[in-house]
Amino acid sequence: MSRPRVLVTREVFQETLDYLARYFDVTPNQADTPMSPVALAQALADKEGALTTLSERVDAALLAQCPKLKAVCNIAVGFNNIDLKACTERGVLATNTPGVLDASTADFTLALILATARRVTESEAWLRAGQWSGWKLKQFLGTDVHHATLGILGMGRIGQAVARRARGFDMTVLYHNTRRLSAEVEKSCHAAYVSMDELLARADILTLHMPYSPATHHIIGAKELARMKSTAILINAARGGVVDDAALVEALKRGTLAAAGLDVFENEPTLNPEFLKLKNVVLTPHIASSTEATRRKMALTAAENLVAALTTGKPPNLLNPTF
Ligand code: GLV
Repeated sequence: MSRPRVLVTREVFQETLDYLARYFDVTPNQADTPMSPVALAQALADKEGALTTLSERVDAALLAQCPKLKAVCNIAVGFNNIDLKACTERGVLATNTPGVLDASTADFTLALILATARRVTESEAWLRAGQWSGWKLKQFLGTDVHHATLGILGMGRIGQAVARRARGFDMTVLYHNTRRLSAEVEKSCHAAYVSMDELLARADILTLHMPYSPATHHIIGAKELARMKSTAILINAARGGVVDDAALVEALKRGTLAAAGLDVFENEPTLNPEFLKLKNVVLTPHIASSTEATRRKMALTAAENLVAALTTGKPPNLLNPTF
């Protein structure tokens, strides 16, 4: 009997391919050439499974061209690139990689907070440009992170991991979430539940940790930014689209918001060009989970999901609600 055929849409680690090759005929893309929707449909036309990333859109139009496809396993915790309803209607199992990236993403959130508040990248660029002529008392005055009030919008696993780290900086942690956490979890995170309005008004630093969906589209827009302190800092290591980037640019330019640390953007990788002109932003290319160990775990978790999906029909991280 021929083995199931699977596509790996982007470059992965050799160990990921070796693992998949124990079960499947694998078509890799180690050249890492991004696939257009047409190329993706062609490559998937005879495949039963796919290991995907957030750069491929899996929607009804694609699925209609891939009659054999049974499983799509995303190498990411976010899955807004996958139309889950369309997958479910076509009987295609979809999975993500929750859990394995929480700590690395929370670490990186702290890196963005510190870099933004303490002007790390701005002062480094200035130094590299040969501008430093000596120590000055008022050079690159920043904002204290210790004892600041941290607002966390979206208090899932990653938000909670950020809250636990904030304790080391003696921060006051407030959060807002669609569901209030149990008293026990709140206590372990040393975090107090507040309304969205109160969160916006009180946070010195506001960090976002929710998935992107129609419900969270522009959850931080002009109105929300206007509620924040003019001294506040916004951090987004969640997903592009949860923030209205044009509104954020305006607030940063007008000085109604002090600074922002951003790892994700609308229309990645073509971010709003105005960000590049601003000094009060720290910009990184969607790398919050990118440590050697974590990216290896993410790829392997997705591969394990694919093996389980095509062998038992019960992958550990199944997303479809009705299967
Ligand atoms: C990365 O952005 C992820 O969703 O895992």
